[in-house]
Amino acid sequence: MDTKMITLDRAHLQDSDFTEAAALLQAGELVAFPTETVYGLGGDALDPSASAKIYAAKGRPSDNPLIVHICDVKALEKLASTVPEEAYLLAEKFWPGPLTMVLPKSDLVPKETTGGLSTVAIRMPSDEIARELIRISNTYIAAPSANASGRPSTTRAEHVMEDLEGRIPLILDGGPVQIGLESTIVDLTGEVPMILRPGYITLEMLSEVIPNVTYDPAVLKHEKQDNIVAKAPGMKYRHYAPKGELTIFEGDLDRVVGKVATEAYHAALEGHVVAVLCSEETRERYARGNLYLVTVGARESEESIAANLFHALRECDHLGADRIFGESFPEHGVGQAIMNRLMKAAGYRIEEA
Ligand code: TXA
Ligand code: MG
Repeated sequence: MDTKMITLDRAHLQDSDFTEAAALLQAGELVAFPTETVYGLGGDALDPSASAKIYAAKGRPSDNPLIVHICDVKALEKLASTVPEEAYLLAEKFWPGPLTMVLPKSDLVPKETTGGLSTVAIRMPSDEIARELIRISNTYIAAPSANASGRPSTTRAEHVMEDLEGRIPLILDGGPVQIGLESTIVDLTGEVPMILRPGYITLEMLSEVIPNVTYDPAVLKHEKQDNIVAKAPGMKYRHYAPKGELTIFEGDLDRVVGKVATEAYHAALEGHVVAVLCSEETRERYARGNLYLVTVGARESEESIAANLFHALRECDHLGADRIFGESFPEHGVGQAIMNRLMKAAGYRIEEA
């Protein structure tokens, strides 16, 4: 199958820009599209065969449920069998935006879309292209991140082409995404609301609306913990991984830089192709040795790190790096989500400097 790319002009969006994409979705086919978090690989959420195509295109295990994207709060009552008061409060405060809520599913939602679960994850994206696509196609769009399973999520249309060319008919190119990390997932089906995946909307922000919200224990662990069952099935898989072996160093920044520089230098001497994941502030301190320097972002702006992280991991692949050494970042605010993704990308290979 040929994969077509349509580049959209965000300043002048027209309904006709979506004609082809909407027709594909209505025919049960797949369309990749931008959201404010990452690119999504969309299919009609109520069509079990579309969900099957999503799993096949990504090479994703079919027990890993999909997020259903909506453009109108009223859809909550159609897709969920019960909608607790908290869901409306959160929707009012954070939708449209990078927050996904897990609720008990209604009969309308096929089990193929929810990976066999009796709950459904729902999100209203703020990206205008995403919302127009949902509105004009008149569907609910099931969409995981538009990467091949296990690879870093896609934050540019080129990343989607790299992973899914020949596997899907259409990519809508809306340029680089705004946030760069997937949505925060909060599970509202238990006694206490729980964050299953940290994201741009932090625990602190959520607790202003639902004060008793906590992290699912699996989120906070820095090692793989086989005895803690990840409630978001997707969080248990090796994920976000570049092809090279990535090791992250944590601790005092000066020591981290020293340790990364030494390890990278030695690996290069041994003949490895080595990339260093650094920050703008530390880049010039890796002058020694034959190293590729990949800047993730500026420490003074965690938003810049979030926006660039997945691109930087893919950049390491383009450089052919088989060893990658990276700095860690402070875990407050969005830093929690940044470190969550980085840790998974490293397969939890994290060392104290
Ligand atoms: O920002 C995002 O959320 C992006 C964009 C495209 O919206 N989507 C995304 O989808 O990241 P995906 O499939 O890559 O990640 C969805 C995560 C997985 O970890 C999955 O296990 C979890 O959400 N999930 C989905 N439905 C769930 C449910 N019913 N209960 C618990 N976890 C669920
Ligand atoms: Mg994903």
